[in-house]
Amino acid sequence: MAVKIVVGLQYGDEGKGRASHYESKKALVVIRATGGANAGHTVVANGKKYAMHLLPSSIIRPEVISLIGPGVVADIKILAEEITQMREAGVQIEYNNFGISERAHLVLPHHKQLDRLYEMLKREKVGTTGRGIGPAYEEKARRTNLRMYDLLQGEKHLVSKLEENLKVYEFLAEKANEFIKEYNLEETIFPRICVEEEYQHCLKYISVIREFIGDISEEIDYAITRGDIIIEGAQSFWLDNDHGDYPMSTSSNPNASGTASGAGIGPTLVDEVIGVMKAYTSRVGNGPFVCKIDGEVSEQLRKLGGEYGTTTGRPRDVGWLDLVMINHAKNPSGLTCLCVNHLDTIGKFDTIPVCVAYRYKGKEIQRVPIDKEKCKPVYRNFKGGWSTKGATSFEELPKEAQDYINFIEEYVGVPVKYIGIGPDEKQTIIKQS
Ligand code: GTP
Ligand code: IMP
Ligand code: MG
Repeated sequence: MAVKIVVGLQYGDEGKGRASHYESKKALVVIRATGGANAGHTVVANGKKYAMHLLPSSIIRPEVISLIGPGVVADIKILAEEITQMREAGVQIEYNNFGISERAHLVLPHHKQLDRLYEMLKREKVGTTGRGIGPAYEEKARRTNLRMYDLLQGEKHLVSKLEENLKVYEFLAEKANEFIKEYNLEETIFPRICVEEEYQHCLKYISVIREFIGDISEEIDYAITRGDIIIEGAQSFWLDNDHGDYPMSTSSNPNASGTASGAGIGPTLVDEVIGVMKAYTSRVGNGPFVCKIDGEVSEQLRKLGGEYGTTTGRPRDVGWLDLVMINHAKNPSGLTCLCVNHLDTIGKFDTIPVCVAYRYKGKEIQRVPIDKEKCKPVYRNFKGGWSTKGATSFEELPKEAQDYINFIEEYVGVPVKYIGIGPDEKQTIIKQS
């Protein structure tokens, strides 16, 4: 019996989906804990590729109870469509293997419009996924947002909640449209979204999700004394609104503690924190990126790693592995082990630079300062040119690949538990159990 948290240590897309799915093999319950449909978890299993935005990656294991926690902001359209598509692909999603917390918040059409509006007004664009995440968390903090619970309380209740919730959008949209006209901006006008429209939107999707909405703490209480619980993170430490690259961050707390909180499990009950990272770095959206590379090499890495956003299709920026970032995230995350993905991808380069320090204000440092954008990388080169093909154990990996992993362990001071040598769940090497 153990509670394990799976979190990202870089800028998202480290392969948390595949790590969480792998861990869910022996689990009783898996809880998706934070963020919303900004996430795109890819799982390759049973010869199929699944891309999930809101459903926990365990959903493809019908024997596991998959839950959406109170920390999530869920776009009900995307959720309902994902459930339908998964069912069409033969995945079992029934009352007995899936639940949505009645406390989880809703993302509605006006949140996406607000996301666009805030980006329009921002001098330095965040480059959000446009999924309405910031505005939904903002309204949650403002205590006007709707929760899953509200969908089940009848027409009068829902309409009255929507009326209150939409007031600020109506006000802002009108002002924004005046602004667009005044400055002749090439921005699409913000539509009037009336209460009736969002009410109808809710009605359209509620039939698919209503049976799953409830108090998920009952399932957690049951599972906690009986089997493994996996808390599935989204985004990452460096996108965390408190600990990451604020304001180039997401609007939630995807660090390990925020993830536990989003699931509804207290810190003393957590046994393992699995930090997921790639053997290099990728970032989608804007913000500081110390080890970013450009030109032909970046193009090569992007292609080899398939670095195109699961949610937006945007080409991701790529760079070498930044161990200063990983090491900095170690204690705030309370890491107990690491999962290093894409060891196959990075091995295709003959020489692999790894960032072991930053040059900052005339000094060499091994911490990440708040003004990270002022840092330059100090690299140590590793010998690459390896192939991980066919390896089933750490010992079967080429010596150079072993050296690379051993160095990560040594530098961060945390053991590597899993190594990804390809996207398929079968291409996972267990280093330490
Ligand atoms: P977010 O929640 O959106 O941050 O996503 P995520 O952390 O679940 O990762 P995502 O699935 O978006 O991106 C990881 C990508 O790398 C996917 O396309 C995976 O199939 C792929 N992948 C994961 N591990 C490996 C690996 O070891 N080797 C290779 N070649 N691909 C991998
Ligand atoms: P938002 O979460 O859509 O508001 O986007 C804020 C920032 O987080 C942007 O830089 C996004 O690209 C980034 N982001 C949000 N979710 C993910 C994710 O799942 N993977 C990678 N980047 C993400
Ligand atoms: Mg992703």
